[in-house]
Amino acid sequence: MFRNLISTSITKPLSAQKSSARTFTSAAVLRQAAASNYQHILTETRGKVGLVTLNRPKALNALCNDLFVEVNEAMKNFDEDANIGAIVLTGSEKAFAAGADIKEMKDNTFVDTYKKDFLGHWAKISEVKKPIIAAVNGYALGGGCELAMSCDIIYAGEKAVFGQPEINLGIIPGAGGTQRLVKAVGKSRAMEMVLSGGANLTATEAQTLGLVSKVVPADQLVDEAIKTAGKIASKSQASVQMGKELVNKSYEVPLSAGLRWERAYFQALFGTADQKEGMGAFAEKRNPNFTNN
Ligand code: CAA
Repeated sequence: MFRNLISTSITKPLSAQKSSARTFTSAAVLRQAAASNYQHILTETRGKVGLVTLNRPKALNALCNDLFVEVNEAMKNFDEDANIGAIVLTGSEKAFAAGADIKEMKDNTFVDTYKKDFLGHWAKISEVKKPIIAAVNGYALGGGCELAMSCDIIYAGEKAVFGQPEINLGIIPGAGGTQRLVKAVGKSRAMEMVLSGGANLTATEAQTLGLVSKVVPADQLVDEAIKTAGKIASKSQASVQMGKELVNKSYEVPLSAGLRWERAYFQALFGTADQKEGMGAFAEKRNPNFTNN
């Protein structure tokens, strides 16, 4: 239903794009369409929000190489689009993503994976400067759980399931499951999930433990994520992007260094027109109109 309400733009596989070319409304969207020939994802814009939908339903959005290349390209395009202030990443109601594509990787050898730095390009999503909200319905398993954790905020549908079942395949998580999950749910539960391949988290458990910040009915999930993304996109982009960078930095650096970075960025923002606008608007009892300057 929400999809029908989208009034701005949708990119589809190129074959389908020809017939719907009239729906593209902005130069940025045209650029996105021209640059893409997506087979496994859909992209849309909704106001200042970019929406990326994993669209490989027969394989429960298993994250094959080509799908991830497309996700990276779509994220980069939205990151470079001055009209976009935040991004939502979602899947289907049945599966956000059921993990890396097992059938595609099952015959890989150590030398292949090492020489080609298998999964190395999955880390590109962490280079996106704009905030990304993962809207997770259904299965977020293995690489699917790791992809959600690579985003900045996770909202979950009521039937979402988070797990790291890689151990059942004779491997371990390879895209952050042994690292980000610990910080999100604590050592004991992370160990249980990673080492047993079970102990999956329901949406409610994930929220209680702090992995997820909001749980909503499945059919409202994307709307809810877009609402929050729209709110973020209405703020001054320099402060939003610095805020994101600094929260992520807290995972990487000692507290004293993080606090120093924070103060330096805080001070730097006094050089922006948006700081003058934001504080001026408060003093004048009106809403700010940020211009990203
Ligand atoms: N890779 C490739 N194909 C997958 C897949 C995956 N990760 N997950 C599901 N599929 C495919 C199935 O093979 C099946 O295809 P066919 O119809 O051609 O047989 C189709 O999706 C539907 O799946 P099921 O019939 O299994 O659906 P289900 O509802 O009975 O079960 C499920 C759903 C519990 C998610 C089950 O599909 C499953 O266990 N999937 C694998 C989950 C997993 O192990 N993920 C970790 C992958 S490894 C990884 O991600 C490494 C990393 O850290 C990056």
